[in-house]
Amino acid sequence: MKPPPASAASEPGDTPVSSERPAPGDTPAPGDDLTSADAPEAVGAAVTGTERRPARTTLRSDLKASLPDGLVALVVTAAVFALLLARIRAKTSSTVSVMPFMADVEGFWMYFLSQAFGWAALLWAWVTVVLGLLLSGPRPGRLPLSGPRLERLHRTTSLNTIALIAAHALLFAAELVRHDTARWHARLYTAFVEAFVPGGYDSGTGQIAIPVGQAALYLAVPLGLLFYVRHRIGPKTWRVLHRFVIVVYVLSVWHTLLYGTNVWYDGWFRTTIWLLQLPIAALLLARLLRPARRSERLSRPVPATPGGGGRPAWSLRLAGRLAVAAIAVAILAVVLTGRDGGRSIPPADTSSTHNHD
Ligand code: HEM
Repeated sequence: MKPPPASAASEPGDTPVSSERPAPGDTPAPGDDLTSADAPEAVGAAVTGTERRPARTTLRSDLKASLPDGLVALVVTAAVFALLLARIRAKTSSTVSVMPFMADVEGFWMYFLSQAFGWAALLWAWVTVVLGLLLSGPRPGRLPLSGPRLERLHRTTSLNTIALIAAHALLFAAELVRHDTARWHARLYTAFVEAFVPGGYDSGTGQIAIPVGQAALYLAVPLGLLFYVRHRIGPKTWRVLHRFVIVVYVLSVWHTLLYGTNVWYDGWFRTTIWLLQLPIAALLLARLLRPARRSERLSRPVPATPGGGGRPAWSLRLAGRLAVAAIAVAILAVVLTGRDGGRSIPPADTSSTHNHD
């Protein structure tokens, strides 16, 4: 922040193999757009006479179901907020080392609350990506959650991730409004442009970091919410698009490591953020090597039949798996060497040379 101025199931080979569970978004019957999470034991059922018919998953039903983990997210945000304030008061906050004017806790409480929402958003994004990869790849036998419950939790944590990112960005914008001295409409306009328009934030590391965060937010919304209109766009289109949601996660981590002032300097906390990416890389690799869907397996080059993709598609899949393996090795190297890309901690009296803007 600147210092204040003053259906794809009918496709040959695309049905999950018998020993496999249905992958998320699978259609149980032609024309039926229910997911495995729509099983009666998972979300309840509409009762017609003696027959129990599964109720369709809608955005409204999932928003309702999101309340419990949304409340947990708010508790986590409150705890992080309290921790950030305690560190500022104890003069151990690296945010204040980077931006000394932020030592005024009351003056910048919205900024610190925005940071807390950012951390909750990143944690929820981590959880939802892990759940998603467990659904679409191999799953450990002894998991305490059934498939439908896992899928429902994946959807609710995804919705909450979007809400947490929005809260993070809105509070950042609100802080900009509060510290601007121009007229109301000019303040609102400037804060909106700086927080939400790519290229609108024009100074320092934020020139890259803010658009990276915005890209994550703007991609998360369609890639997450298209699920609720999959019967219109077709389950296969939805599945193909939803795969790119991993990009949202990568952008989120990149944005955090680039711009978060609590991970500004190298040290154990920044290295831990890197370490947390190892399970994601491992699960992604496992998902690519043993996908729930037979058609995504790399057993041998597929013939160039319509929809099969032929050798180029096979080569692309192989390249994807090799790239993810290389990324996992790179993350391991960062963790083991501690060379995590952080800035060196400045001597106590030179904080003003480390400007965040
Ligand atoms: C419109 C989109 C976004 C905007 C305008 C935005 C804004 C910011 C700003 C200004 C900071 C620096 C705060 C500091 O001094 O540490 C920051 C840090 C951060 N952001 Fe974002 N962000 C956006 C998207 C995201 C997304 C998508 C995520 C993750 C899911 C995220 C998570 C974080 C985290 C964890 C930090 C570190 C906070 C800290 O160091 O305490 N942000 N963001």
